[in-house]
Amino acid sequence: MSDVTTFSATVTATTRNGILVVTIDNPPVNATSADVRLGLSRALAHAEAEGTISGMVITGAGKTFIGGADIKEFGKPAIEPTLPDVIEKIEALSKPVVAALNGAALGGGLELALACHYRIASPAAQLGLPEVKLGIVPGAGGTQRLPRLIGIPAAIELIASGRIAKINEALSLGILDELAGTDILDVAINAVQKLVGTPLRRTGELAVAPPDPTEIEKSSRKTLSKARGQKAPAEAVRLIASSHRPFAEGLADERATFLTLRDSREAAALRHVFFAEREASKVAGLEGIDPRPVNTIGLCGLGLMGSGIAVAALSAGYTVIGLDQIPEAAEKGRERIIGLLERNLASGRLNRAGFDAQTARLSVTATDADLSPCDLVIEAVFDDLDVKADLFRRLDKVIRPDAILATNTSYLNPDEIASATKHPQRVLGLHFFSPAHVMRLLEVVRCRETAPDVLATGLAVAKKLKKLPVVTGVTEGFIGNRIFSAYRREAEFLLEDGALPQEIDAALEDYGFPMGLFAVYDMAGLEIAWARRKRQAAMRALSKRYVEIADRLCEAGRLGQKSGRGWYAYPDGRKTVDPEVTAIIEAERAKKSVVARSFSKDEIRQRLLGAMATEGEALLAEGIAARASDIDLVMINGYGFPAHKGGPMFAKG
Ligand code: 3HC
Repeated sequence: MSDVTTFSATVTATTRNGILVVTIDNPPVNATSADVRLGLSRALAHAEAEGTISGMVITGAGKTFIGGADIKEFGKPAIEPTLPDVIEKIEALSKPVVAALNGAALGGGLELALACHYRIASPAAQLGLPEVKLGIVPGAGGTQRLPRLIGIPAAIELIASGRIAKINEALSLGILDELAGTDILDVAINAVQKLVGTPLRRTGELAVAPPDPTEIEKSSRKTLSKARGQKAPAEAVRLIASSHRPFAEGLADERATFLTLRDSREAAALRHVFFAEREASKVAGLEGIDPRPVNTIGLCGLGLMGSGIAVAALSAGYTVIGLDQIPEAAEKGRERIIGLLERNLASGRLNRAGFDAQTARLSVTATDADLSPCDLVIEAVFDDLDVKADLFRRLDKVIRPDAILATNTSYLNPDEIASATKHPQRVLGLHFFSPAHVMRLLEVVRCRETAPDVLATGLAVAKKLKKLPVVTGVTEGFIGNRIFSAYRREAEFLLEDGALPQEIDAALEDYGFPMGLFAVYDMAGLEIAWARRKRQAAMRALSKRYVEIADRLCEAGRLGQKSGRGWYAYPDGRKTVDPEVTAIIEAERAKKSVVARSFSKDEIRQRLLGAMATEGEALLAEGIAARASDIDLVMINGYGFPAHKGGPMFAKG
């Protein structure tokens, strides 16, 4: 072991047995920022020039190898050396360079490793080129080197999806050469010693088997069908599929494509989403507040929502006690939960040992007092104030004083539910989206009296459940449903003004929504919203514009897909435009003497996005949402807003 050599503020090295062991230490994720690139290129020059050095190991400090290029540098003036320059120098070095992947090697991090002459990973490592998720293609050789190691079809599948591979898969694919047990540096130094004096395997010099169009179609079909008009996945496929051409030509095309995409609106939107997700959990007033420990979660109401939450909780390692009104209902709930777990087992998401462990952590009951061991109780019972308030009153008596009560209400006022308890400070809202074991979004509702550590616990539990928590204040429908109501209202105004459901849906789908609004209504069923409109009818101000078209549809028995007819007809299950719906719309327009006009797709989008953004501004002004980016996350993760458009607040510019 020798002294530490400093190549830059973030790159240092020690020399072990004549091998330069270079460590990148650029917290939080060792991104290849300008200083890292500078340090690495100095280290490479040193290794090449210094006769006593026989080879080099590159590794990362902390739990990451390299998280990728520094996304925060995107959009700023380029600083030499570029990442491709550094990577080229690694590959060309006359002495062996071994990558010791101590943790995640993503994006530019994996590209750097692909240019090393040998790759070793520790069990904590994960590998991937997730650039398409940021609206770009790999820009430092990934689309050209990966197919040289694993073939074109496998490279397409990994890069165009942005999927992360674990080490065993990476080894069997041929991305990795070796797995290391405990001390990865010892293994890497050993590997360098073996490589000294042997012909080095330079990835860029390997041949790529010519592409087979059928294979390319097969490997790209799934990802491209999900791309919803995004450019990056298709560009990635193009670059990989042509990687059998001269290496330098492929690299130049890749870099040019990367630079164009990097400066696009789509990439800016996806970067906005990336940083928004990390920002969302930073909540004012919670700095230094520790969450309460939660091991056992109670779930009241084991219907679809309660069962979904139970599955999410079991998967995250919690013990779950389910409560329903009578033993038969509780037992039915248990069966529903087991059924969902069995689906995970069948799909391979869960292995047998995991299934057994999760079912062993589940119990159900119809007796309130059985919830006494719970650290947190979440209710998912019928959305009625009296029902929920009564339940919370009863729970207040049986759970420990430090246990937390959460309501999953969508529309009721959680402050009123909290006031039914003796300790409203321990009440918060946890608004899950259905199906709760699948949907990532979780609105965490800060009620009037929620204690800071209770809110912090809600956020910590959400993270453990692998959800994306967004904090919201109390308002009818919270962030998501309030914006959704404004959007829906505007869509109905558009209908009355002259647009047809299929035109509105086409405009939304073209924009990138997976489904148009009216198709979504039909899928969800129209009767619940109809019942709510009837309940609210007496309170509706006469001066407010109200569109009755949806009521007419429901009165005609058109309650959505389940009834075979809604905004569309479904002969043989296929969605079809129905002249009867057009006739209902026209009759309503005539009743109000509206002269219908036509709308272009752009006009439709402008009106709908404008309505969402205006409601978003109101939520910010009222202090319900802390930041515009939180609103974007809610609409992207709960309501199908296309991530590559950045959300309604980002899209308004
Ligand atoms: N550049 C700049 N900052 C980054 C970054 C990156 N590539 N990756 C993460 N960060 C920042 C985050 O913004 C966050 O900052 P904050 O603390 O100020 O909020 C901090 O690092 C920690 O991030 P996470 O909360 O995500 O930390 P985790 O430990 O949960 O996850 C990770 C670590 C798996 C590396 C995850 O951060 C991640 O997936 N990062 C992005 C990976 C990626 O997309 N890489 C490709 C970049 S583009 C590229 O490489 C182009 C190339 O082809 C030329």
